[in-house]
Amino acid sequence: MENKQNSSAAIQELFNRIAPEYDRLNQWLSLGQHHIWKLMAVKWSEPELGDIALDLCCGSGDLAHLLAPKVGLKGQVYGVDFAAAQLAIAADKAKQILPNHSLHWIEGDVLNLPFADNYFDCATMGYGLRNVVDIKQSLKEIYRVLKPNAKAAILDFHRPYHPIWRNFQRFYLDYLVVPLAGFRGLKAEYAYINSSLERFPQGQEQVELAKSVNFQQARHYSLAEGMMGVLVVQK
Ligand SMILES: C[S@@+](CC[C@H](N)C(=O)[O-])C[C@H]1O[C@@H](n2cnc3c(N)ncnc32)[C@H](O)[C@@H]1O
Repeated sequence: MENKQNSSAAIQELFNRIAPEYDRLNQWLSLGQHHIWKLMAVKWSEPELGDIALDLCCGSGDLAHLLAPKVGLKGQVYGVDFAAAQLAIAADKAKQILPNHSLHWIEGDVLNLPFADNYFDCATMGYGLRNVVDIKQSLKEIYRVLKPNAKAAILDFHRPYHPIWRNFQRFYLDYLVVPLAGFRGLKAEYAYINSSLERFPQGQEQVELAKSVNFQQARHYSLAEGMMGVLVVQK
């Protein structure tokens, strides 16, 4: 399951480079819908007051920021990403919108998490699994750090099964997303989304991968006509 086209260093460099434009482009390119999909992922990870929650590949922190009110002032949220420029934005936003919550921003590799086994009550990952160089290793690490019975919700793009929506998605990514990103000087940086989707396992394959690393339950939920999906796993 190795993503040989992109090395970790190249991915890290890409996300550091796009950090200043990342939030604005997400908002434009999804017409604000990404916020709804992120809310659903948070809900499916089942955070509770007082929990220790993990957001993997947290980027500019959207999912971590949504987890914080769910775990409350007695809970804690850890956001992990290897792009320092993204983490700086996540931390700045948290200071403004969640000044009293415990959020920790960890610069690290989600393929080798700096946490003990069975540490987290719940976890989220948004648009990260498609970008890691080893999907199976990423799932193994999520399994390792979750407490028994804890859940993780993994949101990402997905190739629709229906040909009409597949073609729509290809068109949308190549002829709307890439040119719009081009307005902000990031055409090449966004052109990778379509090709990354060609390599990304479909929903049922994701479920099988999750089961192969021992998750007791795994289910993939389709969103936006199958153009997005959330893999929900339980240890
Ligand atoms: C598309 S962004 C998603 C950011 C955020 N979760 C969101 O939904 O907006 C993917 C993030 O994954 C991070 N990433 C990719 N591979 C990683 C790895 N092995 N370890 C840590 N972060 C990684 C990138 O730095 C980037 O910030």
